[in-house]
Amino acid sequence: MNVLRFSDLCDEGRARGRRVFIRADLNVPQDEAGNITEDTRIRASVPCIQLALAGGAAVRVTSHLGRPTEGVFRPEASLAPVAKRLSELLGRPVPLKQDWVAGVDIQPGEVVLLENCRLNKGEKKNDPVLARKMAALCDIFVHDAFGTAHRAEASTYGIAQYAKIACAGPLLAAEIDAITKALANPRRPLVAIVAGSKVSTKLTILQALAAKVDQMVVGGGIANTFLLAAGMPIGKSLAEPGLVGQARSVIEAMKARGAEVPIPTDVVVAKTFAADAPATVKAAADVAPDDLILDIGPQTARKLARQLKAAGTIVWNGPVGVFEFDAFAHGTETIARAIAESDAFSIAGGGDTLAAIAKYGIEKDVGYISTGGGAFLEMLEGKTLPALEILAQRASG
Ligand code: 3PG
Repeated sequence: MNVLRFSDLCDEGRARGRRVFIRADLNVPQDEAGNITEDTRIRASVPCIQLALAGGAAVRVTSHLGRPTEGVFRPEASLAPVAKRLSELLGRPVPLKQDWVAGVDIQPGEVVLLENCRLNKGEKKNDPVLARKMAALCDIFVHDAFGTAHRAEASTYGIAQYAKIACAGPLLAAEIDAITKALANPRRPLVAIVAGSKVSTKLTILQALAAKVDQMVVGGGIANTFLLAAGMPIGKSLAEPGLVGQARSVIEAMKARGAEVPIPTDVVVAKTFAADAPATVKAAADVAPDDLILDIGPQTARKLARQLKAAGTIVWNGPVGVFEFDAFAHGTETIARAIAESDAFSIAGGGDTLAAIAKYGIEKDVGYISTGGGAFLEMLEGKTLPALEILAQRASG
């Protein structure tokens, strides 16, 4: 997709002396006291801000945090903790500005953080009046918020429509490049791991990937529905029997292309869903009526690890077992380590997947780790994200 890139504008000196407005995704988790518990998104947003400052721009940055009620300020919706972390990372003060839609006064070489953009009335509904006001605050609008690129809101879509120049920041560009590399023209075999509790929440992803990938590894409750579709017993495991037909058509679609959905041949079961529940390895065919499948078995994990090591490209979304419980974490750990050791280009995204990557310390061995949750999933579905669509429109027109 052809979009204007902020790095190119900076290289050409076009940011110098300009008012740059960066929409970042600084929506980070916090504990009850408001402390940031995970700052990946803030760190990932730093290069764009540095690029703008080095390019001689007057830099305004904003983000949403949570889903506050528009027009109602509550302290927990404030970006104050984010401003503090950002100033530590940038090594300079980052003042936080309230009520900024009417304008803030800053000079080239300075950076300010504009308070939670979802506090502005009209943000969610992409109100054109609000979007025009924001667009008037800048000469260059930079969309760098991949995690929010699937939302058409005033600070992600409308502003891009009305700003003099609208372009993609380096994080947004890197995310798109990585997903394009994995899905548009991948080195084969292309293996996708799609796991999670429900087929229904990932059905469109399964269907879209069924047309592209060479192997689709399913895990978690999704695998249980696929086991049912393959005529296997699953005891009282989490599954969606109503979607067995859909699972079967994914298997058939893959088979028709000479591709496969590897169905687990062994599993780890327990009688209750608990960290200390005794874990038993069984052949998938021997699952008892009172068993809960909580992980793939070692034989299945070994086979998948071999396939992952031989892959050209790997797309990973979702742990294959209840990896939060050590007794049921072996499948996910084996897969994570196989991805880390594979020469394949790998891309991973989604909250649980990132938690698994952190648990096994393989961050440096994954080709690309996406900062997107819903946005990453929509890209896997093959959807064009609204924020990209408008940037492409602006670039072509
Ligand atoms: C996310 O956390 O996935 C993004 O920041 C988007 O947040 P939202 O789902 O509240 O739009």
